[in-house]
This record gives sequence, structure tokens and C-alpha cells, in this order.
Amino acid sequence: MSDPTTSDPTMSDPTMSDPTVTAPAGSDPPASGPTASDPSTSTAIRQALAERFGEELNVSEELPGLEALARIAGHRSHRRFLPRPVEPDLLRLLCACALSAPSKSDLQQADIVIVREAAIRQTIVDTIPDMPWIMNAPVFLVFVGNGARLPMMSKRRDKPFPNDHLDAFFNAAVDGAIVMTTFIQAATAIGLGTCPISAIRDYPRIVAEALNLPPRTVPIAGLCVGWPEQPGEITPRLSLSTTVIENHYGERDLIGEIEAYDRRRAALRPYRRQRRIERWGEASFYGWSQDKARQYAEPTRTDFGAFVREQGFRLD
Ligand SMILES: Cc1cc2nc3c(=O)[nH]c(=O)nc-3n(C[C@H](O)[C@H](O)[C@H](O)COP(=O)(O)O)c2cc1C
Repeated sequence: MSDPTTSDPTMSDPTMSDPTVTAPAGSDPPASGPTASDPSTSTAIRQALAERFGEELNVSEELPGLEALARIAGHRSHRRFLPRPVEPDLLRLLCACALSAPSKSDLQQADIVIVREAAIRQTIVDTIPDMPWIMNAPVFLVFVGNGARLPMMSKRRDKPFPNDHLDAFFNAAVDGAIVMTTFIQAATAIGLGTCPISAIRDYPRIVAEALNLPPRTVPIAGLCVGWPEQPGEITPRLSLSTTVIENHYGERDLIGEIEAYDRRRAALRPYRRQRRIERWGEASFYGWSQDKARQYAEPTRTDFGAFVREQGFRLD
């Protein structure tokens, strides 16, 4: 059902360990473990961040919590999992840790759906035929922004609810995203691998029906969880000079910065193939910005706003 042109074509290659579609240039993938002892943890952090951002950062060996930083710096999504279950008690522990995340105004507007029933998962997967890792993952979760409880309490406490506008949706969506991120960090801390799945929003009504989503709730993303089959690889990011802003945004050569990133990334993780060659032809140099421009040249989730409104959120 899913329009494969709207999702990353490179994702459909089951031989790929990683999403990003890109292949390592010659060298072995970096070690993924949180506790790199040789080289030291601070060196492992430095190396991961150098690979990620193309910049040598100072990482003092005296800092506390270096293992936690190493896990965060070494992040990578996983799409291949061992056939080893994730015990329900462990999953519940991770959900509890995730839901310990900060919450806007203490409103607690995020839920986690554990999709245990194969038929429900299949219904969702059928909307996304090009991502086999969703069905293969030992655990599949859906993170939900839940804006239903707040107006319910207002009614119950006989109070007006004059804040039914875009911010109500935004707050629930942000809470859901923070809880998912916290789940990823908790899962990574114990050696699990994860991959978020926003493709569940390609056909949100089918997902809403499968999960019996109540009014004023929206699926933020799915999450595949399991024991990784491979260490995975670091995906380079835009340089810190592009995305860390001192005080205020000023004049800058953004095109030049992005093209420098295209080249740095292509040297480390070149794309294995080009997107929609039949439409755009074969580029002599195919970098991140070319890939993203091609990806977003196709309409994607154009009726998501309509779905969110149908769910009872007002977006004005
Ligand atoms: C909100 C969100 C949605 C995502 N949706 C998908 C998805 O539908 N399918 C997929 O294979 N990966 C998905 N990803 C994973 C991204 O492709 C991945 O994070 C990105 O390529 C960077 O790679 P890394 O996580 O290994 O650093 C998603 C990530 C996020 C944060």
C-alpha cells in the first residue's frame, strides 16, 4: 500500500545494515560498544564525534559519565536483529525509564503502544512494504502523542479549555518524541538496537484503526527494538558550525557548508545508489543534499494535517 517512492529507496536493500543508505568507504565500521576501553572511552568519544562531525573535540578523561556520553556519541540506528526475544519485564523497565523523561508542564502527554499481536503489526507493515525490519524486529512499539487527557480533566473539573489550538498538538507531539528518544537511550544502554519508523504515518488512518487510537491522539513514530545483529555504523551529521548557533543566526555561506558536508559524508559513507534515476538521471556526484532534494521532490504525507484534524486536534 505504501508508495515506495515516498520512502527511502535504499532502505529496501536487505543487505544493508543501516538506513542511511550509505556504504563505508573502505575501512571497517567503528566499534559500537558503549565502553570502549582500548582506546580509552574518551578517545572512543573523540573518534565517534570526529567521524560524525569532521571535528576533533576535547574530551577530558576526568569527566564523569564518559560511558554514557560514548553511547550517545556512538549512536546508530539498527535494522537487523538477532532472533533473540526481549523479555517482557525488560521491556516494561525500558518503558518506565522512557516515561521518566521530562514532560511539558508535567502534562504527561505521551503513551507507548507495545504491538504484540502479529496481526496488528502486519496491518501496519502492509502499509510499508519496503521496510522488512519492522516485521523482523523482536519488538515493535508505537509512540503516541496523547492530547486527550488534558481536556478530559478540564471537563471533569468543570473548567474551560481555551487552549485548543496548534500548541496543544505540538506539546503532545514533542512529549511523544522526547519519550521515544529516552526509550532509545535506555535501550542502547543495555545493548539493544533500535530504529524509529515514521513511515507508519504514511497511512495514519490504517494505523489509527489497527491500534484503536482514541480521539486527540496521534502516532508519532514506530520503533523497532531488538538485539543488534551487527555493530552498525556512524552516520555523519552536518558540521557543528552549521547546527550550533552562538547567540543568534547571522550571515553565513549555508550552501557552501552543506556542500562541504556532502563531500565529507560521501568520502566516509557514499550512497549505494541514487534515488529515482528514472526521473532525475544519474548525478556525477551524489551527496546528501542531492538525495534529500530528490526524496522531497515526491509528495509525502500530504494529508497528515487532515488526519490530525480528524483525530480532534485543531491546528490553528
Ligand atoms: C522520527 C524519526 C523517524 C524515522 N523513520 C524511519 C523510517 O521510517 N524508516 C527507517 O528505516 N528509519 C527511520 N528513521 C531512522 C533514520 O533514517 C536515521 O536516524 C538516520 O538515517 C540517521 O541514522 P542514525 O540514526 O544511524 O544516525 C527515523 C528516525 C527518526 C528520528
